[in-house]
Amino acid sequence: MNFSDLARERHSVRHYTPGLTISDAELEAIFADVALSPSSFNLQPWQFVVVRDPARRQALKNLAFYQQQVEDCAAAIIVCGKLNAHVDTVRIYADAPAPMREKFVPMIPGVYEGQPGLQREEAVRGGSLAAMTLMYAAKARGWDTGPMIGFEADKVATFVNLDANTVPVMIVVIGKALNGQQPQRLYRRPLSEIVHYETLDGRTPA
Ligand SMILES: Cc1cc2nc3c(=O)[nH]c(=O)nc-3n(C[C@H](O)[C@H](O)[C@H](O)COP(=O)(O)O)c2cc1C
Repeated sequence: MNFSDLARERHSVRHYTPGLTISDAELEAIFADVALSPSSFNLQPWQFVVVRDPARRQALKNLAFYQQQVEDCAAAIIVCGKLNAHVDTVRIYADAPAPMREKFVPMIPGVYEGQPGLQREEAVRGGSLAAMTLMYAAKARGWDTGPMIGFEADKVATFVNLDANTVPVMIVVIGKALNGQQPQRLYRRPLSEIVHYETLDGRTPA
């Protein structure tokens, strides 16, 4: 499937065929694509907690304002961001070309240390980009997904044992749409409203 078709076929699915399972192998094929997502300084500040156990998904649903898709999906993936991904700078750059390593290794810790606002922004930015890759990678393999921010973040963090340096960014549910039925594509703002050449008040597409 080419990318335009993939973009058009991905929908936020809320009604899933209950009782389906997704294997480790299928998940790990998807996550191998997700791991290729871009991130600031290549710090890859993402973590994924896969909740598959049916009883745990039912409990998680209660922390997600009773959104039924959490119970009916095959897996609810808690996409998280790491606030301290920069502590791995030396390891991440170990195999990088020497000029790159010599430039970035001394620089990166200083960018993030003592900057909780920036750490959080990067965790959410990185987690969000990874979540988008996850949704497309899943769709390319025949799985439907739904991104969700409607959940009690603190309770979900406790539910999946997040540590103090790991924040939930969003939940992505994955499964198969009930009866294969895809939701209607909702309104999209026209390009003339969202694209601006050179400045925000510049020319827009026709
Ligand atoms: C960050 C984020 C959070 C969302 N949270 C929820 C949610 O909690 N529950 C839900 O049913 N849909 C949620 N959605 C799905 C949006 O409603 C959906 O993406 C939007 O209406 C456009 O529909 P589409 O994804 O099918 O194109 C969320 C989407 C994003 C990107």
